[in-house]
Amino acid sequence: MTAILALENLSKRFGAVVVASDIDLAVPRGQALGVIGPNGAGKTTLFGMIAGSVRPDAGRVVFDGADIARLPPARRCRLGVARSFQIPQPFGAMSVFENLLVAARMGAGLDQGEANALCVETLERCGLAALANRRSGSLTLLQRKRLELGRALASKPKLLLLDEVAGGLTDEECKSLVALVRAVKESGVTIVWIEHVVHALIAVVDRLVVLHGGALIADGEPREVIASPRVAEIYMGIPADA
Ligand SMILES: Nc1ncnc2c1ncn2[C@@H]1O[C@H](COP(=O)(O)OP(=O)(O)O)[C@@H](O)[C@H]1O
Ligand SMILES: [Mg+2]
Repeated sequence: MTAILALENLSKRFGAVVVASDIDLAVPRGQALGVIGPNGAGKTTLFGMIAGSVRPDAGRVVFDGADIARLPPARRCRLGVARSFQIPQPFGAMSVFENLLVAARMGAGLDQGEANALCVETLERCGLAALANRRSGSLTLLQRKRLELGRALASKPKLLLLDEVAGGLTDEECKSLVALVRAVKESGVTIVWIEHVVHALIAVVDRLVVLHGGALIADGEPREVIASPRVAEIYMGIPADA
């Protein structure tokens, strides 16, 4: 399998805080990759460097064979990179449908007819059909999270970056979100999913990496990674040699 995304020697620091130190990571096309790591580890910054809001100090972000590390976010989106934000960021004064339309027209570059069709489909898919005309500033947390995912999907991504979409949801809400993400994966979209709700992550991803101190300190089969002594040490303070 060829990699749709390859991070090569990617480095970034904010002052004295090193958030990425020579990171190498290849994500095969169609893979669902989970990313975990303590708060402040640099997970969201990593997404920023892939999607374009954060400029790396050094290194390459190779997407579909070309280095996109210095392209603006809108260009990357048009190439097929979409992200959801940890804190949902809809255009609050616009309706749910209008928010999706922006993604389909500006993000994916579709004409009006194609965009309408895609947005209707996305509403259904994300359980937002009954809310199409609702002002997005008035949505509940779950509805905002669904819209956040919907906006990313309406830009027709090849690579979908999800930043903590399951946080703060009830068990039932989490289950339906997991089903939705799994369906997106099954449609062939490559997914990188940052998530603290590990049971949700494990239900979907093929592979799990752990980011800590600016480096990927574990990479492998999700259950094995979770059970590894190094990961227990980082998350629970249990020494690896205990
Ligand atoms: N734009 C920024 N300027 C300065 N420091 C930042 C900026 N963005 C993030 N940081 C710092 O970088 C570290 C990693 O942040 P972040 O990527 O949000 O971590 P995570 O998503 O893993 O919790 C934190 O210490 C954070 O305060
Ligand atoms: Mg974060």
